Amino acid sequence: MPLRALFKLPGRLISKDLHIAAELLRSGQLVGIPTETVYGLAANGCDPKAVAGIFDLKDRPRFDPVILHFADPDRVEPYVKGNMAMAHSLFRAFSPGALTLLLPKTDKVSDIVTAGLPKVALRIPDHSMTLDLLRELPFPLAAPSANLFGRTSPTRPEHVTEQFGKELPLVLDGGACAVGIESTILDISEKKPLILRQGGISQEALEAHLGYAIESKLSSSRPEAPGMIHSHYSPGCPVALMKDDVFPNEGFQDGDRIIRFRSLLDGVPEKAQIILSTQGDVREAASRLFKALHDSGSTEPRVIWAECVPEKGVGRAINDRLRRAARAQT
Ligand code: TXA
Ligand code: MG
Repeated sequence: MPLRALFKLPGRLISKDLHIAAELLRSGQLVGIPTETVYGLAANGCDPKAVAGIFDLKDRPRFDPVILHFADPDRVEPYVKGNMAMAHSLFRAFSPGALTLLLPKTDKVSDIVTAGLPKVALRIPDHSMTLDLLRELPFPLAAPSANLFGRTSPTRPEHVTEQFGKELPLVLDGGACAVGIESTILDISEKKPLILRQGGISQEALEAHLGYAIESKLSSSRPEAPGMIHSHYSPGCPVALMKDDVFPNEGFQDGDRIIRFRSLLDGVPEKAQIILSTQGDVREAASRLFKALHDSGSTEPRVIWAECVPEKGVGRAINDRLRRAARAQT
């Protein structure tokens, strides 16, 4: 059956059919793919026209480069040069997993992928469905998070279809994302590794592996430190951060929502509150954060109040996303 006919069938938008996903990608179209971090909006990473489609659908500025996803470390060699010993050591320790490495690119990587920058971001996602898809394809997949530019990243297939509707032919249904927060981005192209984004692999784990402290350079509105555009992750309504259980300014009002780390806040209706981890586990909190933002935002509250979590491990990434959501324009 031709692809066009397949998509006239009802219920095809979210599907587990790897074969159709591969066909679409081979023909230059976009597919929503599951990863352990967040859903990606994928295209053939070696086809500049297909990659351009990602920017158009997301309404993403062309200065913000995208990550290339591979099935295994052996496949990255034609695309990068530089400190491959460190790359392989990190891949061996953390891949497949929530670590993205930045290395100097070869000519095989087109400028639209890196937004004209000399380095390319690489990652091996830890999701069996997407690894099977990548093994079937003769090219890597370029994929940013599958949300409209500036919005909260999707951690379920329906978050993707809610944002793109029929403009996206297919979202592969890989269930809820286990990690729930994007990958850690580590630039290993200079003498000293540098964290450009806190994410699913903690700074502490990377430092333990490397045997020394790593610096991070996180927030920026400059295109050369992309992704880190500091207002981001908007759930579609204002987000305000709480400190020490205190509401700044006018305080809680009916209809507002609250995202809490481990316990309910006294004096506020229980149904207005979402707790990320009653155990106080930052990993569990990370896996629930974006769904909490999506769900709270979908009730169209005046404001979502959010409490930061302990600044350690994956907690750093959670706080980073909350701070950016709080700065985002809606
Ligand atoms: O977990 C993840 O990393 C998810 C899944 C789908 O893999 N992807 C993701 O992509 O979060 P995205 O585009 O939403 O965020 C990746 C960030 C971007 O903000 C981008 O600016 C930065 O990585 N990035 C990509 N390529 C880069 C490059 N060549 N140099 C500097 N930063 C880069
Ligand atoms: Mg993103």
